[in-house]
Amino acid sequence: KQTYHIAVIPGDGIGKEIVPEAQAVLEKVTEGRANFEYVDFDLGAERYLRDGAILPDEELERLKQQDAILLGAIGDPRIKAGILERGLLLKMRFELDQYVNLRPSKLYKGVVSPLADPGDIDFVVVREGTEGLYAGAGGSVRRGTPQEVATEVSINTAFGAERVVRYAYKLAMKRRRKLTLVHKKNVLTNAGDMWQRLVDQVGEEYPEVEREYLHVDASTIFLVTEPSRFDVIVTDNLFGDILTDEAGAVVGGVGYSASGCINASNTYPSMFEPIHGSAPDIAGKGIANPTAAILSAAMLLDHLGFDQEADRINKAVEDDIAELGATSRSTSRIGKDILGRL
Ligand code: IPM
Ligand code: MN
Repeated sequence: KQTYHIAVIPGDGIGKEIVPEAQAVLEKVTEGRANFEYVDFDLGAERYLRDGAILPDEELERLKQQDAILLGAIGDPRIKAGILERGLLLKMRFELDQYVNLRPSKLYKGVVSPLADPGDIDFVVVREGTEGLYAGAGGSVRRGTPQEVATEVSINTAFGAERVVRYAYKLAMKRRRKLTLVHKKNVLTNAGDMWQRLVDQVGEEYPEVEREYLHVDASTIFLVTEPSRFDVIVTDNLFGDILTDEAGAVVGGVGYSASGCINASNTYPSMFEPIHGSAPDIAGKGIANPTAAILSAAMLLDHLGFDQEADRINKAVEDDIAELGATSRSTSRIGKDILGRL
């Protein structure tokens, strides 16, 4: 049996409560199939407040040696915004070259969408993960004065955009064969034009895939008026961030939304995390829903080639939500209920 090393980073707030549930599910479905070893990493707010470390080089190097990473949530109100986000979460995405930020949205049976007539919602956002406005290019001069100038430059490379576009087409081929490019090419004429050309060029290789283009503002409308039109959406880092929060809301809350920060070239490990945050308001109460973390564990398995095991988890979650989704349950209760179906 092959051995897999899984880095576990519970992180902050409810991350600490939901990750053990996801790990228990991983342990159960891989039992007897492969040898999964879990390596705990103490990273996040507590660590930073304790010794000032965010992501030390030697820990980053150790992360690189793992086969995949299971992450809870990062963020703490005691720490100035941006420190952990940039220093830990984005640093891992960038240093591990996790260029595909894969975010599926599905309206499960038993979940109430805020939309009156949601229809069948089942789409995936392929969000670029290492460039765009997240790249950190820019700065501020004359800070704090009336003459202050603050810039954030959006970095878009042909290499970076093409690789996510290719990933999106391949994914569309396995699904309903429709690809929507979301951008703002009427205003962002440089990057928008490049993304559109790449989508058209790579699209020549995928004649079976229907392609469309939407401006990001229009796409936020379609996401609530006609979400069933979407199959695979490909977009840049910031548009993808915003759209996937909206997508989470449309399918009944980010409590059901998993994600993968994927290095599709497998040069470094990929990372799997719920798209929700650390939820400090409910942290420590044992009431956070671990479903998104459990679905993230399924994505992790899928990435490592355990698609049957991933499907088992997805099915268990689907059944759990259909039967008990409307009941109020504790974190550990939901975890046990899902485990019991495996
Ligand atoms: C997400 C989060 C992060 C992002 C933040 C915490 C840096 O909102 O994973 O969507 O913007 O990517
Ligand atoms: Mn976000």
